[in-house]
Formats: sequence, C-alpha cells, structure tokens
Amino acid sequence: MALTMFSDCSSSTTARLLPLNRTGSGFLHLRGSSATLLHLNPRNPRSLGVISTQRCQSSYSPTVAMTTETSAKVIDGKAVAKQIRDEITSEISRMRDAIGKVPGLAVILVGDRKDSATYVRNKKKACEAVGITSYEVRLPEDSTEQELLKYIAEFNANPSVHGILIQLPLPRHMDEENILNAVRIEKDVDGFHPLNIGRLAMRGREPLFVPCTPKGCIELLHRYGISIKGKRAVVIGRSNIVGMPAALLLQREDATISIIHSSTENREEITRQADIIISAAGQANMVRGSWIKPGAVIIDVGINPVDDPNSPRGYRLVGDVCYDEACKIASAITPVPGGVGPMTIAMLLSNTLSSAKRALNFE
Ligand SMILES: NC(=O)c1ccc[n+]([C@@H]2O[C@H](COP(=O)([O-])OP(=O)(O)OC[C@H]3O[C@@H](n4cnc5c(N)ncnc54)[C@H](OP(=O)(O)O)[C@@H]3O)[C@@H](O)[C@H]2O)c1
Repeated sequence: MALTMFSDCSSSTTARLLPLNRTGSGFLHLRGSSATLLHLNPRNPRSLGVISTQRCQSSYSPTVAMTTETSAKVIDGKAVAKQIRDEITSEISRMRDAIGKVPGLAVILVGDRKDSATYVRNKKKACEAVGITSYEVRLPEDSTEQELLKYIAEFNANPSVHGILIQLPLPRHMDEENILNAVRIEKDVDGFHPLNIGRLAMRGREPLFVPCTPKGCIELLHRYGISIKGKRAVVIGRSNIVGMPAALLLQREDATISIIHSSTENREEITRQADIIISAAGQANMVRGSWIKPGAVIIDVGINPVDDPNSPRGYRLVGDVCYDEACKIASAITPVPGGVGPMTIAMLLSNTLSSAKRALNFE
C-alpha cells in the first residue's frame, strides 16, 4: 500500500462558522454552540432508537463549547454495523430453526496480496460470527482464467452457496470483466454484475443486490434518520464500486445529485452546495472546511494511509475529508476509521442473507 504524504489540515482554512437554523422535516437543526438535534425518521422502524451523543473528539472541548463553534455528530458506523450483524444473526438462527439451512458465501482469492488476504480473512470471520457458512478458494498468482472460471462454475451450481465473491484486484493477466460476468446474477452479492448495476440505474427496476460500500453509506443515513428526499447531494468519485452506485442510490431516493471527478472544475464551489456529501476519491484530506455548507452531512468513504511517525506502524488512516475542520461545520460526519468501513462487511452479510432467503423461498 503506497503511502501518501500527510496533507496537513490542522491549520484552519474553514469558512466562518455560522449558526444554522434550517427547517424541514427529518433534517438537522444547529443552533448556537451545542444544540445539535438529529431527528429520527418516524417512518423508518430501523432508525436507531438511541443516537450516540459522541461528537468530534479532536475539536470538542468545554472551551470550544463556549464559543460559536459547533461540533458535528459522529455517525458511528461501528455501532450500526454491530446492530446489523446482530439482526442478521437472529434471522439466520430463525432460518436454521425453521428449515434447517443457513446461507453460504464463497470467497475466491487469487494471488498473495497481503491486503486482499486480510480482507478475505475478515470476511470469513464475519461470516462465522453470524452463522453464514463460508467457502474459501485460494489460487496462486499465476493461475489461468480457465482455472478460476472452473471454480466460479462450481459455486454457481452449488445450492449451498448463495453468494460468490471474487476478491479484487485480480492479477493483471486476468480479464476482470470476463470473470465478474461469470458469476450468476442470483449469487452476485457484491452487486457488480452489469445487470445489477443496470437495474439500479433504471426507474421501476430492482437490482437483486446493491454494491456493499454504497449500500452501507445509505444505510447509515437511514439509520440516523437523515432524510435524503429533495436534498442536494454531491458524490466525489465515480468508480464502479463506490461513487457511481452511491450516486444512483441517492437519486433513487429523490436527492438531486452532482458527481465530482478528477476533471471537474470548481469542485469546492459545487461541494459547498451539498446538504449531503459522499466522498470516495481516495485523496487524503482533500475536502477542506471551506468546501462544506454549514449543517451538511458527510459520509467519508476514503481510506488513505498518511505518514505518522508517532504511530507504531509509521502511518495512520485518514479519510478524504479534513475531519477536524469538517467537524466544526458539518452537522454529522463519519469518522475514518470506524465509519463506512465496518458497514461494507455488514452489507455483504446482509446481501448473502437476502440471497439465501430468495433461493430458499424463506420469508
Ligand atoms: N470504506 C470502505 O469499505 C471502502 C470501500 C471501497 C473503497 N474505499 C476507499 O474509497 C476511496 C475510493 O475508492 P474507489 O475504489 O472508488 O477508488 P477509484 O476507483 O480510484 O476512484 C476514485 C474516484 O475519485 C475520483 N478522484 C480522484 N482524485 C480526485 C480529485 N482530486 N478530485 C475529484 N475526484 C477525484 C476519480 O476520478 P476519475 O474517474 O476522473 O479518475 C475516481 O472517479 C479509496 O480511498 C478507497 O480505499 C473504502
């Protein structure tokens, strides 16, 4: 993993902090220094019963609270992901009791990338913890496409396997599109199959699966009762696995979307118009305080290693958003780590459970 140089965002370039008094149902109201209300969505039964009162630690102190500065609500992805895993565990035990079957997830890893091996290990552990049977295949780096396709065909045909995940990236000599297309759409729990993405993009169509990371972003908004309908949203990044499906999901929920990418001009100005920002650019601390509209909600997908001589590993992980600055302006924000990251695996488990329920006709 290449380290990026730490782009320091401790020196404040933030816009002057304004008290926000926004009206409108189910959104955030900031008044003065400490009144941050996160309205629960009464129509969403999954809305968190208790919202954590945790706030951005780095900028919050009694002294700060006496000034005009505000401190954003921290959207706790770790806690929400745990809640979801608990729900999945009880659904799986209900399934086992009722029909004697449990969901199965097959993970295929090609090559010996350490980061990929860690992701696969974490997914396997997460499966075991909720009661999903996991199947793992590890192939050497120099395997042929035909060998990999053979395993995919076997898992496609295996009725105990309800989800198939090919750990990306694949070695360069393999055609990723060809491989991903070989996964049966009914088992495409990653949601990357073009048919799933096509259905996501079309009005009146339903994808069988939604890609896990963007699904996790939207789930966080739902569970914190943050309304999306009618809001202006900016998605930074347009990758097939995060930015593009995140924008499609927001659009399906009736937000008005702008997508920012590496050729976009006036990124700061466009982002400043957003009520909701989802950033997935992979650029450490790119989104400064001055990019953020007071009261905006920020979902930071970026995971960027930056040099940190004080850390035992010599680096630490930061998001795309300059957290310290954003905390003073946004009304709610996901931390990195502990925000979107834990949600991705939780959504994978959720997609696998839905797939099994569909295949086994279990309500
Ligand atoms: N939390 C999680 O579970 C999770 C999951 C997946 C990814 N991630 C993280 O999310 C980040 C993005 O991942 P990805 O796979 O989507 O990355 P990616 O495939 O590299 O896509 C990055 C996107 O950001 C855009 N971009 C890059 N630099 C930019 C800039 N300076 N200004 C505006 N747009 C810029 C790119 O624009 P172009 O299209 O013009 O090149 C591209 O669309 C990474 O940090 C990754 O580690 C986290």
